[in-house]
Amino acid sequence: MTYQHTIHWSVDNDVNNLKGSVEIKEAAQKLAAGELVAFPTETVYGLGASARSHAAVQSIFKAKGRPSDNPLIVHIARAEDVNNYVEEVPETAWKLMNSFWPGPLTIILRHNGVLSTGVTAGLSTVALRMPDHPVALALIEASGEPVAAPSANRSGRPSPTTAGHVREDLDGRIAGIVDGGATGVGLESTVVDCTQEPVMILRPGGVTKSQLEAVVGQVDVDPSLQETAAEEAPRSPGMKYKHYAPEAPLTLIDGDEAFFHMCITEAKDKGSRIGVIVDKKEAADVEADKTYLLENSDGETVARELYAALRYFKKEDVDHIFMRVQPEDDIGFAIMNRLIKAAGGRILSRN
Ligand code: TXA
Ligand code: MG
Repeated sequence: MTYQHTIHWSVDNDVNNLKGSVEIKEAAQKLAAGELVAFPTETVYGLGASARSHAAVQSIFKAKGRPSDNPLIVHIARAEDVNNYVEEVPETAWKLMNSFWPGPLTIILRHNGVLSTGVTAGLSTVALRMPDHPVALALIEASGEPVAAPSANRSGRPSPTTAGHVREDLDGRIAGIVDGGATGVGLESTVVDCTQEPVMILRPGGVTKSQLEAVVGQVDVDPSLQETAAEEAPRSPGMKYKHYAPEAPLTLIDGDEAFFHMCITEAKDKGSRIGVIVDKKEAADVEADKTYLLENSDGETVARELYAALRYFKKEDVDHIFMRVQPEDDIGFAIMNRLIKAAGGRILSRN
């Protein structure tokens, strides 16, 4: 379906104002009627559709250009609603939900068959999440539906962290966008398979491994996420596709500042226009053609700004984007997971 006009609903994030909000009511009606509505969560913007409507779910795949074997996350407004969609909730899953919901954690459980098979891509399991964003929660609640929502980008592009990013990718392809400003975490939720003990991280994200371990003890990591096992097939179907790709190719630079500068100089000498993503403090010394300045170099800031930074560079302006490899501790594990995919594995190392 194409739309002459994708509706833009501006809302403020104050829970009290959201309750009687005409905008939320209108957007919720569209969702309940089987149309596609993008909305903010604490991680990235999601592209929502009723998870009970097969037709609505199919239109998500169409609007995004997403392969249909890649299942969607179902968003709910109350933790106890998981009982409506799954066979049973193991003890560890309850512990995780109690500790991290609402929040950037998606749990995988065996489903009971009531949701559209399009949502689960025919698997026996379903991904569930209660987002920590007043707009998302108000919208889901008002729609009365479980809301299937992948990130609201065209498949293969960096996820959207503002309503403007959603518009770049999906204007005219969806019914509307609820604009609640920029998202907070900036990277998607952590996906954890709770059908096995110990539970296993399938996608690193907003909740870190050590945070999970503090609640349930040992946590495994899908072997395909370890660099040393790059050829392992990922267990989360979505992880195998091209992802987060900026318009100009990204190359990660693994080395000190001097090496980073050398890479830029060499590429410029060859006639390439270079874009760089650097921390504000580094900027003064970098002579790139275009620069995205990160507010700070800590993991939380890099995570929050990463997708906006990748979207900042247009192919008319630069031929290559360079960014230094980031530390892999805590949220850094998720940052490097996204960066390596965004770079299609291109890393320049000194040696
Ligand atoms: O933060 C987020 O999780 C955002 C916001 C909008 O909530 N959503 C998001 O959805 O990132 P999406 O569709 O872009 O990513 C969902 C990931 C994919 O890697 C998918 O393969 C995986 O979750 N997934 C979904 N259902 C699964 C299942 N039953 N088993 C294994 N992995 C699953
Ligand atoms: Mg996505």
